Formats: sequence, structure tokens, C-alpha cells
Amino acid sequence: MSTLKYKAPSPYTLKAPPPPTEDVTYYEHLKDLNLSGNSEAQVFGVAVFGIGRAGTIHITNLVKNRRGKILYVVDDDKEKLLKVKNYFNLLQVEFITSAEQSTVFTDPNVRYIVCASPTYTHEDIITEALKSNKAVFCEKPIAETIEQSRTLFELAEKVNQPLFSAFNRRFDPTYAAIRERVKQGEVGKVLTVKVSSRDSPLPSLAYLKISGGIFHDCAVHDIDQVISILGEYPTKVSAIAHANIPEIDEIDDVDTVAIVLSFDSGAIGIIDLSRQCVYGYDQRLEVFGEKGMLKTENRAPVQTIEKYTHESVKRAPIYYSFASRYEEAYRIEMEHYLDVLEGKCKLLVEGRDLLAVSKIATAAEESYREGKLVELEWNTNELPSAQV
Ligand SMILES: NC(=O)c1ccc[n+]([C@@H]2O[C@H](COP(=O)([O-])OP(=O)(O)OC[C@H]3O[C@@H](n4cnc5c(N)ncnc54)[C@H](O)[C@@H]3O)[C@@H](O)[C@H]2O)c1
Repeated sequence: MSTLKYKAPSPYTLKAPPPPTEDVTYYEHLKDLNLSGNSEAQVFGVAVFGIGRAGTIHITNLVKNRRGKILYVVDDDKEKLLKVKNYFNLLQVEFITSAEQSTVFTDPNVRYIVCASPTYTHEDIITEALKSNKAVFCEKPIAETIEQSRTLFELAEKVNQPLFSAFNRRFDPTYAAIRERVKQGEVGKVLTVKVSSRDSPLPSLAYLKISGGIFHDCAVHDIDQVISILGEYPTKVSAIAHANIPEIDEIDDVDTVAIVLSFDSGAIGIIDLSRQCVYGYDQRLEVFGEKGMLKTENRAPVQTIEKYTHESVKRAPIYYSFASRYEEAYRIEMEHYLDVLEGKCKLLVEGRDLLAVSKIATAAEESYREGKLVELEWNTNELPSAQV
């Protein structure tokens, strides 16, 4: 019988449901397959500053992108410039050092820049770019201090150019889905948001020395994650941190951090952060509310393989690094920025978001260094647009 009575009609006679919207890559494939929007797509000339970890990810995405056309690559490492040129086969692109960067700013064909050089160089590069009426896609953090960032956002507003802080996790399809589902009320009133964020591999000491410290280099992602889900800013911040790695202690930074954020709505944000994690890039999120919980576990490159033996069931390791775990998010954030340049949508990460994250990260660092709970006040013009 095999429950023949339930047999469905031939699928050819039925209307197929649309693919799930979560399968972003399939939808992108459909766009490519059907050449949808191809004829109207604008092409924007771009200059990439910095060809390190972040810069090469953006170059990889731009090489495949039909709307962003790399015109210049700027870096002070001449040997690496040549290698990148040959590796990516960017024979028509100009490779220059920062001493020659004015060429980028005076070239009318450059519509925007991607700023992926070390954080301490951002302020000067962004200022010059904005003053030359170029749009700016910038790796986080925008600058070393809140004051510098605020000045840059004011300048961006004055010259009417979008200054984007690339919080890549906002564009990860899983996190985006959780954010949306919380907004739709699936877990009801939120009680806690828990973020575990443990880095892998351990960054080089050379990088850590110029990173701005774990609160501004790493915790900013987690803070943004919590506040973008809640649509609210915390009024109390406390943090405990330790340097378990002697070399990190020597540069007056820490490697293990716990941050607790208290929100007036009654929600609590809990961030557990580490500079290194031996089993991979540990990225987990949980939103617990009155009606239930939404959570996401780590992802793995070969997610589905399990090995069963007498002693254990083993699964493949999780993604090793941000470059692989957030590969999709980096691609989508660049598409988002190009949509903004085409006038199709507004920036998902606004200046006030970055400034708020920076203020919270500063408070967390103050809490750790001074061993106290830090209270925060927010003016109306600082609040998230959804809350005003
Ligand atoms: N979104 C993320 O998750 C993420 C991840 C990594 C890095 N970042 C950010 O990206 C930025 C770069 O970090 P990274 O890890 O790629 O650093 P990196 O050290 O790997 O690379 C930086 C590159 O910039 C070059 N450079 C130095 N001064 C320059 C200048 N004035 N103009 C142009 N290039 C210059 C260096 O030679 C180097 O090639 C930082 O702001 C960092 O916070 C963000």
C-alpha cells in the first residue's frame, strides 16, 4: 500500500512554490541566468585602498562584480601590488602607492573608494575622498576615535556622499533572517541576546598593535549585532576582560572579554569574546524572548558529513576564519553598497549606528579599565532611526 492514498499528482501539473528567500545565492544565480536588470545596471569606477586581509576579499568580490569596476589599487607595499596585479589579472588597473593617491581623487571616473587600509589611515583617506566628492565604503572602524568618526560623517552629509561602515555581519543571510524574525515578533518581547564571538586564527602581533584594541577592533561587530537586533541602545554597560596571552598583555590589550549590556526595555545583551579559538571561528547567536528562542550555531564548510565509529560521531570542523564564514556577507554588502550608489536603497548601516557602536565600545573599555558599571545617556539624534 505504501500510503498510496496520499500520492500527489505529477509535479508537472502543479505550480511550484518559489525558492525559499533565504537561498540568496540561488536568487543571485537566477538574476545572472535570466540576465535580469543587466541592461540598466550602472557601472561605478572604484579605487581599493589596502590589499591585506580585508582588501583582497573586496578585490575578489569586485573582480566578479559587474557593477563595480576597479580602476586603481593603492598600497604602500610595491612588491605586493605587483603580485596582486598578476594574481587577479588586473592588467588595465593602475597600481599606485599612497604617495600618488591624489590621482585617484582627481579622476572623475572614480565614483567610490573601498578603504581597507589599517584603521589609523582611514581618517585621512576618507577626508580626502569625501572632499573630492567620492563615495566611501570603509572597513570598520571608520576611524580611531568617535570624534574623528563624527567629523567624517558630518563631512559625508555636507558633501552628500554615502559613507558606509562595513559591518559585514549585518549582511549574513542567517543573521539578517534572525533580525527580521525578531522584528516580526516571533520570539515576542526580547529578554536576552547572547553573542559568542571567538576569533580564529589568532591575528599577528603586528596587526594587533595597530588594531585599536579588542573593544574597537572586534567587540564593535558584536555590539552592532545586539543593537541592530534589538533596535535599542543600552543605558548601562559593564565589561570584564583578561590578557591570558603574555604578548597581548605587553601591548596593553586583552584577549578574553565578557560584556553585559542593559537596555531600558528590560532586555540584556551578553557578549563573550575571544581573540583566539582553537576549533575555528566560533560565531553563535541566540535571541531569547517571552514567546521562544531563535538561535544559530556555527557553520562548517562540509556541513553534512558525519563519521560514525564505535567511540564517537564526528563532524567536520567549523569555518576557520572570518574570510570563509562571512564570504557571502562580504559579497552581499558590496552589492548593497552598489544598490545605494544606484539610488535603489538607503544605507543599512547609518552613521548614527557606527557612532553608537563606538560609544558603547568605548564605555565597555572604560568599564573594564576602571572596574565600574558605565551609564550611557542618548540624545534623540543619536537614537536608532527605528526608535525615534
Ligand atoms: N569587517 C571585518 O570583519 C574586518 C576584518 C579584517 C579587517 N578589517 C578592517 O580592515 C582594515 C584593514 O585590516 P586588514 O586586516 O586587512 O589589515 P592588513 O594589515 O592585512 O592589510 C592592510 C594593508 O594596507 C596597506 N596600507 C598601509 N597603509 C596604507 C595606505 N596609507 N594606503 C593604502 N594602503 C595602505 C598595508 O600595506 C597592507 O597591505 C582595518 O580597518 C580592519 O579593522 C575588517
